[in-house]
Amino acid sequence: MMSKMGCHVVLLVLLLIKVNLAMVLDDEATVFTSYSLPKDRKFMATVGNGYVATTVYSDTIFMNGLFNGEGGASHRARIPATVSVTVNLDGSTIQSYALDVARGVFSHTIQSEVANVQQRTYAHQFYSRLLVTEITVNRTDAMATREAEPIRVDLKSNMGGPSDDVEFHDGPDFQGGKYMLGKIKTPELKGGDKPIVHVVWTPVPDNITLPADQSSQTWTFITSISSNQKEAEQFYHVGTNLAGKGTLYTNHTQSWLKVWEEGRIETTGNLQLQQAIYGSLYYILSSLPPLNAPKDFEFFGVSPGGLANGKYQADYQGHIFWDQATWMYPPILLLHPELGLSMLESRTRVLDAAKDNARKRGYNGAMFPWESAYTGHEVCPAPGPLKYEHHVTGDIAFAAQQYILSTMDVNFLLYKKGYDFITSMAQFWASRTQYDDKKKKYVIRAVMPPDEYHENVDNSVYTNIVAMYSLSFASKIAKLLGKSPPSNWTDIVDNMYIPFDKTKQYHPEYEGYNTNIQVKQADVILLGYPLLYNMSEQVYRNDLTIYERVTDVKGPAMTWGIFATGWLQLGNITKANSLFARNYKNIQEPFKVWTETSFGAGAVNFMTGMGGFLQAVLNGYGGIRLQETQLDYHPTLPADTTNFNIIGLDYRRNKLNFEADCNQIRVTLTRQDKGHQQLTLKVKATGQEHVLQPGVPVVFSRGAASIFPKTTL
Ligand SMILES: *[C@@H]1O[C@H](CO)[C@@H](O)[C@H](O)[C@H]1NC(C)=O
Ligand SMILES: *[C@@H]1O[C@H](CO)[C@@H](O)[C@H](O)[C@H]1NC(C)=O
Ligand SMILES: *[C@@H]1O[C@H](CO)[C@@H](O)[C@H](O)[C@H]1NC(C)=O
Ligand SMILES: *[C@@H]1O[C@H](CO)[C@@H](O)[C@H](O)[C@H]1NC(C)=O
Ligand SMILES: *[C@@H]1O[C@H](CO)[C@@H](O)[C@H](O)[C@H]1NC(C)=O
Ligand SMILES: *[C@@H]1O[C@H](CO)[C@@H](O)[C@H](O)[C@H]1NC(C)=O
Repeated sequence: MMSKMGCHVVLLVLLLIKVNLAMVLDDEATVFTSYSLPKDRKFMATVGNGYVATTVYSDTIFMNGLFNGEGGASHRARIPATVSVTVNLDGSTIQSYALDVARGVFSHTIQSEVANVQQRTYAHQFYSRLLVTEITVNRTDAMATREAEPIRVDLKSNMGGPSDDVEFHDGPDFQGGKYMLGKIKTPELKGGDKPIVHVVWTPVPDNITLPADQSSQTWTFITSISSNQKEAEQFYHVGTNLAGKGTLYTNHTQSWLKVWEEGRIETTGNLQLQQAIYGSLYYILSSLPPLNAPKDFEFFGVSPGGLANGKYQADYQGHIFWDQATWMYPPILLLHPELGLSMLESRTRVLDAAKDNARKRGYNGAMFPWESAYTGHEVCPAPGPLKYEHHVTGDIAFAAQQYILSTMDVNFLLYKKGYDFITSMAQFWASRTQYDDKKKKYVIRAVMPPDEYHENVDNSVYTNIVAMYSLSFASKIAKLLGKSPPSNWTDIVDNMYIPFDKTKQYHPEYEGYNTNIQVKQADVILLGYPLLYNMSEQVYRNDLTIYERVTDVKGPAMTWGIFATGWLQLGNITKANSLFARNYKNIQEPFKVWTETSFGAGAVNFMTGMGGFLQAVLNGYGGIRLQETQLDYHPTLPADTTNFNIIGLDYRRNKLNFEADCNQIRVTLTRQDKGHQQLTLKVKATGQEHVLQPGVPVVFSRGAASIFPKTTL
């Protein structure tokens, strides 16, 4: 009730000051400006495009798939930061820094009496091998009219010392650029191959000078990186060419704006929320391949720290975990299923390694390792998770299921290893479960649940359910393609043991759990969302209440969004808002970098937390659920907001806008892509049905609605 009243009050104020509600991507929400840099440089902004990435001003560039070190020591290999330059202007009066997430650019602006200098650093959003820093020096108007003098701007390269990871050698210059190539020092597997990297870059002089007779000039410094020499050269050539024509930068910013045009979340009234949403989406998207560029490289997946982090013994060394499938992937899938597919393909890429892993450990099918890097073989340095944390294969199967529910992409199943991928994971689970004669149920013994405080427990409720889902989904896919699933799959699905406490009416995390035992993070509460496990409201409420009390407040960021999502489903908005607000503690100013824990420790730039946060927005407040037969939508306005719009949600190859305010909802089909299915929207309160037509909004009172496609699994 409170929240609804608040909504009306704020709306009134907004109408009085005539805020333009239709305005998109306003600078306040998307440009994070500061007069100083964070003291701790790990909170610096990052730029990236899924192929290359860097923390601004650091001495390191990382490249997709370039790892050095054997087994558990495998970590992202450092490439000296040839793009990292600091700019200094004598007599400067004001300096400021800004991360513009709408355009994917970090800038440093310096003003003095004689000049304005702006440096822009970015990872190109179309030409994905390129990192660019460009510096524009403008004579100020006042000085231009007087007797002019040359203006010198001092530069400092921060490329740093030689790499400990890559044995680099200089090669011949290329078109005015310097060139080096190198092999990583230690392969991931003994005797395995050593990937090569080629770097072509514009050398950075000590200073640049704007001549006396000129009012403005831009200098562009390009770094081109590739696993292939020709490609590194080609991209460098195109980059310098376009920079000369002045279109390199505009192509980059236009490409980013196109990404936002295709999918975003808009809220009105709560700036902190808007910034957190744009910031989180920006950082995850900059660790993914460019949306509108050719798919011309093999993508290795999103690590908890993103592509700009992952050195030795930090930020999970750039490894891929369940985090990608369970945390970063769901919001990206809803807005950009092409990128969701890229994330899945970072797993189909190494399907053979997962099969090998299963075989070696005595199982059938494909068992994905707890941590994966270059080869797709296990690279987990910690013995407990390595031995017991098996749910990752269920998480990946659930991600594949969501992809099919969202897109019905049969092409993926038939021609991109999808069928083998999905059935191989189910085969693993069929061999991982055992029949327990006493219980007369299938059980899974000796696991570590998502709550990593407990290893070697039996029947983790979360693990058993994802295993069961993997088998039932694979059975459906087999039938869809006219094949018959192995005989014991259905039996396992129907008779999986699901721990449940009848007295307390809640789900124990594993067999033998009691409600005084502390847990690290969201685990059992994942049953309600994202697993959409069928249970009564009372049981859901009990799970949320019991586990909130015992969840470690020092645990990782993604937990609170899941609690909030649960309470939103149960209609307790006050409770949801207070749990959701805990997310903000993990956001470090001024550039909205996320830390794993609320007190600034753990991995940066914590994509996992961002993913949980975005799910709390889309699935929690938005009430979006990808069900077997339909897409549900039931919005609640986040605290202090008057409008909440999900723009460009993709369902069965249709782009949809969901716009909600205090009173009503407007759903608009904005685009139909090749292979789209006709959709019918059904309003829950009235039972009215509308076949969605492009450009024709359906408007109804705020409440629940579902969208039904033509075909279901
Ligand atoms: C320099 O001048 C150009 C052209 O007038 C302008 O577009 C640009 O914003 C200026 N840059 C700075 C840093 O003042
Ligand atoms: C400016 O750069 C040139 C060329 O690198 C160098 O010779 C000169 O000493 C520099 N001037 C200053 C003042 O640093
Ligand atoms: C960037 O340049 C490429 C190559 O010319 C072009 O295909 C693409 O459409 C451009 N992107 C934008 C947003 O202008
Ligand atoms: C299911 O069948 C497969 C193949 O015959 C077998 O390897 C597996 O152990 C069976 N699973 C169970 C739980 O009995
Ligand atoms: C969920 O469980 C309830 C009660 O056990 C049952 O009536 C209902 O059919 C189930 N729903 C689904 C979708 O399985
Ligand atoms: C929401 O939950 C809190 C804490 O459990 C409780 O005190 C409050 O009464 C609930 N509010 C509603 C509307 O159910």
